[in-house]
Amino acid sequence: MTVAREQLMEKVVALTKRRGFIFPSSEIYGGLSGFYDYGPYGVALKRAIRELWWRHMVDLRDDVVGLDSAQIMPSEVWAASGHLTNFVDPLRQCLGECKKRWRADHVNGDKCPECGGPLSEARLFNLMFKTNVGPVEDSSSVVYLRPETAQGMFVDFKNVLNSSRVKVPFGIAQQGRAFRNEITPGNFVFRVREFELMEMEFFVKPEQDDEWFDYWRKERMRWYVDVLGLNAERLRFHDHPKAGLSHYSKQTTDIEYDFPFGWGELEGVADRTDFDLRVHQEHSKVDLTYLDPETNERYLPWVIEPAVSVDRIFITLLLDAYDEDVVNNEPRVVLHLHPNVAPVQVAVVPLSKKEDLIKVAREVQSSLQGQFRVEYDQTGGNIGRRYRRQDEIGTPFCVTVDFETLNDKAVTIRQRDSTKQIRVPVADLRLTLTEAISQQVPANEDR
Ligand code: GAP
Repeated sequence: MTVAREQLMEKVVALTKRRGFIFPSSEIYGGLSGFYDYGPYGVALKRAIRELWWRHMVDLRDDVVGLDSAQIMPSEVWAASGHLTNFVDPLRQCLGECKKRWRADHVNGDKCPECGGPLSEARLFNLMFKTNVGPVEDSSSVVYLRPETAQGMFVDFKNVLNSSRVKVPFGIAQQGRAFRNEITPGNFVFRVREFELMEMEFFVKPEQDDEWFDYWRKERMRWYVDVLGLNAERLRFHDHPKAGLSHYSKQTTDIEYDFPFGWGELEGVADRTDFDLRVHQEHSKVDLTYLDPETNERYLPWVIEPAVSVDRIFITLLLDAYDEDVVNNEPRVVLHLHPNVAPVQVAVVPLSKKEDLIKVAREVQSSLQGQFRVEYDQTGGNIGRRYRRQDEIGTPFCVTVDFETLNDKAVTIRQRDSTKQIRVPVADLRLTLTEAISQQVPANEDR
C-alpha cells in the first residue's frame, strides 16, 4: 500500500513523536523553532547513520583520515572563507498583520504568503550565530558557531599533512554539529538551525578535479542505494547551473530525493577548487602548499567535497521506509528500514512471563547483544501487539521464545516485511541472523 504524498510527512512526524524518535526541543517551555531533540530510537538511528558513513568514508578506505575540530572558530576564519560576506540569505518581512519573515527566494510577488500584507524590500541576513569568548563583549572577542565543519579541515590542513602519512589524493573527514540561523526552518528536521554535518574534503591535483568530482558523485549515490537501502527511483542528480553556484564552487551536483514537498537536496557534492586553502593562506600568511614527493612540485591542492547532514538523511530514511498495510486482516504501520540502519535490529520476545521462558529469552538476548542492536520486549499484551510495535519502529527481525523452546532448543524468527516465520535452533541463531541481515533488501512491493 502506498501512503498519499500529502499525508506522508504528517504521519511520519506523528510516528516519530509516538515512538520516541524525535521531540521538539525544550517542549515543556513551548519549544524553540528549528531545534529538535532525538529520543531513544532516534539516537540509535542517528548513530547507525553516522557509523555507516564513517565506515564507508574512512575505515574501509586507505586514503581518508578523520578530524574533530572545534565548533566555535574566530572571526578571522569566517572573514577569510567568505562566510562573513557571502553566507547570507535575502530576507523580506511582512509589513502587514502577521510580521512574518520570509526568505526572498521562497516567495513570489510582493504579498505576504500568510496574510496577504505588503512585503518589505529584501535585505541580506547573515546565517551565522555570533557570540563572544571571554568576559568582555567587544569586537575583538567576537566568534562564530560554525555553519559548516569544512573550515576546520582547511585550517588544520597543514597539521594533518605534517603529522600523518597522507599523500595527494587524500581526504579529511569530519562529523559534528553545525549551526545556521535559518530564516525559515521547516519540513521537520529537513531544515533546522542546529544539525549534524558529515563532510569530507578530498584533496586532489588541480588538473584531476573533474575525474574525482565524477567519482565522488557516483560513490555517494551508490552508498544511499546499496548501504542505506534508499529507493533508487526516488533519487536523482541535479547539477547546479553556473549562475547559482556558491562563492567557492566551480561545479556542484546535488543528490536529490523526491520528498513529499517535491525534489530537494539530500547531499551536495562540490568542486571547491583551491579557493579555501588559497584564502586561508592569504589571510593567515601560513604556507599551505603541498610538496609532491615524486615531482618536487609545490601547489595548492583542489578539493572535492561531499557534504550531508545526519538529520536530513534521518528524515529521508523515515519517509522512504514508511508504509501502511494489512496483516491478518488488521491494518499495520511499518517502517521498511534497511537492517543496517534499523534502531533495533533484533527484538527478543518471550511468549509469556513464565520464569523458565524468561531465563532462556535473557540468554538469547545476551548472546546477540554484542553483535546486533537488540531490544528485549517482555511488556504485557499479546505477541501480535508486540510485533506491531516492532514493525512500527522498523525492527527487521523478532525472535520469539515459546514453550516449545524449552524442549526443542529452537526459536522462531519472524520477519518484518514478509511476516514469515522460520524455526531455528538457538545454536544457529547468530549465524542465521548475520546472514539474513547482510542479505536483506527491504521489501516493500509498492516502493
Ligand atoms: N560545506 C558545504 C556545505 O555546508 P551546504 O549545501 O550548505 O554545503 C551541506 O550543506 C548539507 O548539509 C546539505 O546537503 C544538507 O544535507 C545539510 N544541511 C544544510 N543546511 C541544513 C539545515 N538547515 N538543516 C539540516 N541539514 C542541512
